[in-house]
Amino acid sequence: MANTTNDAQVMLRMHDIHKSFGELAVLKGIDIEVRRGEVLAIIGPSGSGKSTLLRCINKLETIDSGSIEIEGEFLADTNEHGVAEYADLKKSRELLSHTGMVFQQFNLFPHMTVIENLIEAPMQVKSMKKAEILPYARELLAKVGLSDRADYYPSQLSGGQQQRVAIARALCMQPDIMLFDEPTSALDPELTGEVLKTMRELAAERMTMVVVTHEMAFAREAASQVIFMADGNIVEQGDPETFFNRPQEERTKAFLKNML
Ligand SMILES: Nc1ncnc2c1ncn2[C@@H]1O[C@H](COP(=O)(O)OP(=O)(O)OP(=O)(O)O)[C@@H](O)[C@H]1O
Ligand SMILES: [Mg+2]
Repeated sequence: MANTTNDAQVMLRMHDIHKSFGELAVLKGIDIEVRRGEVLAIIGPSGSGKSTLLRCINKLETIDSGSIEIEGEFLADTNEHGVAEYADLKKSRELLSHTGMVFQQFNLFPHMTVIENLIEAPMQVKSMKKAEILPYARELLAKVGLSDRADYYPSQLSGGQQQRVAIARALCMQPDIMLFDEPTSALDPELTGEVLKTMRELAAERMTMVVVTHEMAFAREAASQVIFMADGNIVEQGDPETFFNRPQEERTKAFLKNML
């Protein structure tokens, strides 16, 4: 039932997120909202908290206070003592199964072939039968242009190919929201293009995506909103056209000047 109400559905909402590592405050009150089919690009200097923010979405890190809603349900919310409280394990797992993540360093299982990498989580986590998931896994491999590499091991692939396998693997769990943490920054420049192409195609299919990236051209073309983070705060945010052509804040201007 794809109607306008559904299209406007908030897939992810984070409100007033605070997170410290010991004495170091890394996230200082972050608010984001991502609707169905939107691509949120997060940019900013090293150490600004981008990865931490992304990792908080799927509970690889926990927040100190604030709230995280996934498709309208609370993964975490601040209690009366001002401390974040998480949904119970069963509920958290259910909500997190809506998300898929792709890391800078691919993180494929080295002892498994490409196709085995794809079907492992659906079989283990969703208890799907091999015969049940295999056709879908093959479809995804075709989609990322690697049908002919199904039986290769990760070490036999280029970095760009490995990253496309990692994307197909995340998609094999049928997530509603894809999270990418600098998916191309470990790649040689000539290999980033093929990964960005796959991501552009996903965006064109209206996959909801949160992408931490240094690829300004990708953010400009594929994102629906861009956020610039520095020192644990959102300094500036907007639609790509406004953000890149008419940035308001000095820090944003300086950062963008450096990136070009
Ligand atoms: N597990 C951790 N323990 C302690 N400090 C951490 C941990 N993870 C991150 N930090 C610190 O938090 C700050 C933000 O790190 P984060 O990785 O989120 O930055 P980033 O914006 O992703 O940077 P980059 O662009 O280099 O990837 C940094 O100062 C980092 O050293
Ligand atoms: Mg990072």
